[in-house]
Amino acid sequence: MHPMLNIAVRAARAAGNIIIRQIDQAQDLPANEKSKNDFVTEVDRQAENVIIDTLLKAYPKHAILAEESGTRGNSEYIWIIDPLDGTTNFIHGFPHYAVSIALQHKGVLQQAVIYDPLRQELFTASRGDGAYLNDRRIRVSKRKELKGALLGTGFPFREGADLELFIRSLRALSPFTAGIRRAGAATLDLAYVACGRLDGFWEFGLKPWDIAAGALLVEEAGGIVCSMQSDEEYLASGNIISGNPSILEAMQKHISSAIIGHSN
Ligand code: IPD
Ligand code: CA
Ligand code: CA
Repeated sequence: MHPMLNIAVRAARAAGNIIIRQIDQAQDLPANEKSKNDFVTEVDRQAENVIIDTLLKAYPKHAILAEESGTRGNSEYIWIIDPLDGTTNFIHGFPHYAVSIALQHKGVLQQAVIYDPLRQELFTASRGDGAYLNDRRIRVSKRKELKGALLGTGFPFREGADLELFIRSLRALSPFTAGIRRAGAATLDLAYVACGRLDGFWEFGLKPWDIAAGALLVEEAGGIVCSMQSDEEYLASGNIISGNPSILEAMQKHISSAIIGHSN
């Protein structure tokens, strides 16, 4: 395992332990609303602190982009961190959330870890070295068409989100698939695309820490991640489509025809 990935795994497991230890209190934890429907708990903060401490202890000169504490440092190496993806699930005792850590070097994603502490599933990838689930190589699904496909998505829930745009995309895809899932943790949606549990995934308005690790996993598993619009970069736009190459092409076709001409 690449030494930087090894440190990231250590950081993700430490954060996972913090999350698990507080699982029984999750429904009683005070949650602050960062903005409408956007929650943060003490667990998010503690998990983020242990991740940052672990990473900076090993690599003190690296920079950080973390959901709860923002940016720190200036370096060609940037760690992109979501300490608890699926906070709303966690608060409600809905058992589906994960820790997500990615390393970008000179703007290119190089290392990725997504850790689901409940199922003890560790997804890892290093650029050029494939994607793994608990040390077993994973690949995206082989499905060639939307017929029979299971897709993941995220429903818009924040103030100002474009629900109409999402509904158009849902209407364009749903009738052609076997089903759509909204599980509530974008990083796990992407990890599930990487290991073939989902054939594809799309969502509008994500942040870099929701996407970075999952995107490298999908690519290293033989899949594709791209922005909804060809002239945008997906980490920057946050509007993403992902899937195995055939499903991605089909999704792009349906979604683009649905969103063309849509404006607020
Ligand atoms: C959220 C989850 C959710 C997605 C949201 C994200 P958080 O992350 O990934 O599935 O729909 O857009 O913000 O806030 O739980 O880290
Ligand atoms: Ca997130
Ligand atoms: Ca989070």
